Amino acid sequence: MASRQWNSSTTEIHAGYTPAAPHRPMTVPIYSSAAYQFPDYATAAQLFSLRQPGFTYSRTGNPTVAVLEERAAALEGGIGAIATATGQSAVSLALLALLQGPGHLVASNKLYGGTVDLLTDTFADFGVTVTFINPEDPDAWAAAITEKTRGFLLESVSNPLITLVDLRAITEVAHAAGIPVVVDNTLATPAAYRPIDFGADVVVHSATKALSGHGSVLGGLIIDAGTFDFSDAARWPQIAAPKARYYGDSLLERYGSKAYLMLVRSKFLHDLGPTLSAPAAAGILTGIETLSLRVAKAQANVLELCRGLAGHPAVARVHHPSIPTHRDHALAQRDFPRGTGCVFSFDLVDPGNVPVFVDSLRLFALAANIGDARSLVVHPAAMTHCRLSDAQLRAAGIGPGTLRISVGLEDSADLLQDLIGSLDALSTTPAQPAADLLETSNA
Ligand SMILES: Cc1ncc(COP(=O)(O)O)c(C=O)c1O
Repeated sequence: MASRQWNSSTTEIHAGYTPAAPHRPMTVPIYSSAAYQFPDYATAAQLFSLRQPGFTYSRTGNPTVAVLEERAAALEGGIGAIATATGQSAVSLALLALLQGPGHLVASNKLYGGTVDLLTDTFADFGVTVTFINPEDPDAWAAAITEKTRGFLLESVSNPLITLVDLRAITEVAHAAGIPVVVDNTLATPAAYRPIDFGADVVVHSATKALSGHGSVLGGLIIDAGTFDFSDAARWPQIAAPKARYYGDSLLERYGSKAYLMLVRSKFLHDLGPTLSAPAAAGILTGIETLSLRVAKAQANVLELCRGLAGHPAVARVHHPSIPTHRDHALAQRDFPRGTGCVFSFDLVDPGNVPVFVDSLRLFALAANIGDARSLVVHPAAMTHCRLSDAQLRAAGIGPGTLRISVGLEDSADLLQDLIGSLDALSTTPAQPAADLLETSNA
């Protein structure tokens, strides 16, 4: 479908696809083909040398996947996107294309545990260095910049404690130093928040989560705002310097504002191969059709549950910026008027109660995912963030009694009954009155 500016719920259904002859299928066809026949030799040579756009082999592009890429770019307000097999590979490729070898990153200390593993273990093995800082403090980002810094990395809504950042302030610091900002927008989704509107350069997603909304596929997305200036060939040799791989051309002179995306696709997706399959792309596209509706329903459920849990004597803290005394409450009202997505966390007064509480839940499944239609619970310290050191857990605000909830689309009264029933069964004395606990929430 011709690109034009629609509101989010229209874009979710129409962007990137127009039914075409001879059959005019209403939903996006699944092109399960590894390769594409070239009409003649000359066209094949043009396509392989990247002088003509088109599909050669599905590791680097597929028509079904391309619809998802166009839809994701339209939703996030970018100039283009690249889909990957998982969110993890989206984060990896987005950063590899910026690092230009063993560079340095400044990263939030409140990141998904798998991203922390990537940065502190796998990237470290290849000489990449990372400085982790408190993302809420723009001065901390500025102070961590070195000559080798090639990117800032943060989550728009942090996992699992739902802390927020003043992204505009952070992107101003980054751009003043010639550094691009990568934002993982998995928890918020573009139906609630668009990082590019606040100055982000690259947006990444685990499309496994709320973009799909059904928990039946894995996928990732990299979306480029197309506005970052990569023209300094000393800083960005892979983009701005001539390369033998591109027959002596630089990606920047060939592709202009799409040079970064071309680097991701033609080098990193091509060489490393974490490609999204066509059936998985179709599954994500089906999910995206209902994104705005689901985000609104999830937010309503989150608010109900946070209110219901806040005064319970077995609950020490509820972590969600909808709580008026939460540190990020004003920021949430200013920048996240449609909510922060389907996740919130809370701390049990007695961490020793975590196993019995989790095992007594009947509706909430103990499962390591978020954004599913079903409500899920995890214990981050033992599960999603289990490889973080005690210091890293403390910096991320994750305690031994912290439980993360991904609220599904069930009826909120049923969900609350399940949580409260299990909490009531715990023998716990509140550490302090509930009102005070809220005052100190997420301090
Ligand atoms: C914020 C965030 N980013 C990235 C990922 C990685 O995504 P995937 O599991 O699709 O590889 C996750 C997974 O939980 C996540 O929560």
